[in-house]
Amino acid sequence: MTIQSLLHTHLQTAMINAGADTGTDPVIKQSGKPQFGDYQANGVMSVAKKLGTNPREFAQKVLDELANSQALDGIADKLEIAGPGFINIFLDKEFLAKSAHTARTSDRLGITSDHTETVVIDYSSPNVAKEMHVGHLRSTIIGDSSVRVLEFLGDTVIRANHVGDWGTQFGMLIAYLEKMQNENASDMELSDLEAFYRDAKATYDNDEAFAEKARGYVVKLQSGDEYCLAMWQKLVAITMSQNQASYERLNVTLTDKDIMGESLYNPMLPDIVKTLKEKGVAVEDDGATVVYLPEFKNKEGEPLGIIIQKKDGGFLYTTTDIAAASYRYHTLHADRAIVYSDTRQAQHMAQAWAIARLGGFVPDTFKLEHHNFGMMLGKDGKPFKTRTGGTVKLADLLDEAVARATVLIDSKNPDVTADERTALIDAVAIGAVKYADLSKHRTTDYVFDWDSMLNFEGNTAPYMQYAYTRVRSIFAKAGVNPDTLTGEIVITDDKERALAVKLLQFEEALRQVAKDGTPHVLCGYLYELAGIFSSFYEACPILSADDDIKNSRLQLADLTAKTLKTGLDLLGIKTVEKM
Ligand code: ARG
Repeated sequence: MTIQSLLHTHLQTAMINAGADTGTDPVIKQSGKPQFGDYQANGVMSVAKKLGTNPREFAQKVLDELANSQALDGIADKLEIAGPGFINIFLDKEFLAKSAHTARTSDRLGITSDHTETVVIDYSSPNVAKEMHVGHLRSTIIGDSSVRVLEFLGDTVIRANHVGDWGTQFGMLIAYLEKMQNENASDMELSDLEAFYRDAKATYDNDEAFAEKARGYVVKLQSGDEYCLAMWQKLVAITMSQNQASYERLNVTLTDKDIMGESLYNPMLPDIVKTLKEKGVAVEDDGATVVYLPEFKNKEGEPLGIIIQKKDGGFLYTTTDIAAASYRYHTLHADRAIVYSDTRQAQHMAQAWAIARLGGFVPDTFKLEHHNFGMMLGKDGKPFKTRTGGTVKLADLLDEAVARATVLIDSKNPDVTADERTALIDAVAIGAVKYADLSKHRTTDYVFDWDSMLNFEGNTAPYMQYAYTRVRSIFAKAGVNPDTLTGEIVITDDKERALAVKLLQFEEALRQVAKDGTPHVLCGYLYELAGIFSSFYEACPILSADDDIKNSRLQLADLTAKTLKTGLDLLGIKTVEKM
C-alpha cells in the first residue's frame, strides 16, 4: 500500500468521525516543501464549507479524532494545521526506516500487484505497405511503457496492434506487387515501403489499365478471392516483419501474436450497421448510412453526419473502431480499453465510442480511453521531417541515434570490454530516443533534439543510466554484494530521511501512470530520486562511516539502485552496470 492511500484511509475515517459525510475525500497530496511536512490533507476546507463550520476548527476536530484513535501512531510524529485549514503530516522516522527496509527485502520492492482488470492496449498500429512514421513511434514507445506498468501492478494486459491492413488502397498495392513480381521475379524485395507505396500510387495515377485492374482487385479481395488474399497477406507479412525488427531494436514488447489489424473486424461490420439502423441510431442519407450525434456539430452548428457505410457499400475507419470496441468487451472480456494515437484522432475515437455506446455494443461501465499525444516537431518547430522534407524512416532514425551515441560514449572512453561497449551504445542510443519522448507530457507537442536527448545533464536517458551505474559502483568500491546486507535501516540525517521518503513514493508514481497513461510522471519521479540520492551521497559518507551507519546507508543505496532499475525497466529503458 502507498503512504498516500494509508493516510487517505486514516484521515478519511477521522473526518467522518468528526462529522463529514461517508465517502469524503481527505485529498492527500505529497507536500511541495519540507516545512509543510511530507504529505498534506487538503480536503478539510470543502468539508467545513459543506458543514457550515470554521475550517480550522474542523481541522482541529480531525486531529483530536486521530489523537484519540491513535491511528497514526507510529506512522506520523507530527500533525499541524496550516493556513485556512490544511493539515500538514510529518512522517515518523522509524516508520520510514522500517518501510524502506521492507521495500528493500521484499519482492517487487514491496509493491502488491492488486490490479485485477483486463486491459486492452491498442498501440503502435502502423499501416501496411507504409513505413512507420514518428506518430507510430510515439504510440509504440508510450503504449509499451503503459503496458509494462499495468502488468507490473497486476492487470492482465492484451496488446492490440491495430494495424491498418484494410481499405481500397489494397487493390492498387496488390496490382503493383504483382507487377513487381512479374518484372523482377527472382529479386522481390520490399525493403523500401515508402518507395513501394509511392510508385504504386504513381502507376495507378498514370496507367489506366493498371488502375482498372487495381479496382477489380479491391472487389475480388473483399469477396475473399484466394489469389488476392494471398497477395494481401504477403504485403502484411513483409510490412510486419520489418516492423518487428524495429520493435526488437526499440526494446518494445510487441510480437506477431499481438497483431489485431483492422481486417479482423470485417466480419462484424454488416451487423454493426444493421443494428444501428434498427435502433434508429443510423439513418440512410443519399445512399450512405450516417449517424448524427448531437454533441458533434459542424462549423454551421448543425449536427455532424458520421458515415459508417458508404454509398458503394464500403465501411469506414469509424465502423471498424465501433466493432473493435465491441470485440474488446465481448470477445476479449476487457474491463478497460486504451488507444494510443495522436490528438488529431481524438474526435474520431470519441465518435466511434459514442456510437458504440448508443448502439448498445458496450455498456457504460466499460472504460474506453483515448490516450492521445501531440506531434513530434523538428528544432524549427515544424512537424519532424528529413532535411529534404520527407518522412523520417524509423530505421534511419535509430541508426542515427546509434551513430551519435557511439561518438558520445567513445568520447568518455569508458573502461569496458568490446561487448559491453556495444551494449552500452545501444542502451544509450535507444534509451535516449525513448526517454526524450516518455519524459514529456504526452499531450503536448515536443521538439526532437539530438543534443538535448543525448546530454549527460538533465532529465535524459544518459543521465538516468549514469546515475544508476554510480549507485552500483559504490558496491564495487565497497566490495559488498548488496544481497548479503542484513540489519536495520537507521535514519540519522535529514538527507537520509528525504531519500527514504522519496524511495517510498515509487509506487505512487506508478499508480498515477497506470491511471492516466502518463509515463512522464515516472520519468520525473526517477529524475528527482537521482537528484535526492546525489545530495544524500554528498552529505552522508558511506564507505567511511561507522559499521551500523555504513550498513544502513548501503541498504538505502541498494534500494535506490533497485528502484532506478525497476523504474527504467518499466519505461522500457535498458540499464548497464558500467559506463
Ligand atoms: N493505424 C492508425 C494510424 O496509423 C492508428 C490506429 C489507432 N487505433 C485505432 N483503434 N484507431 O493512424
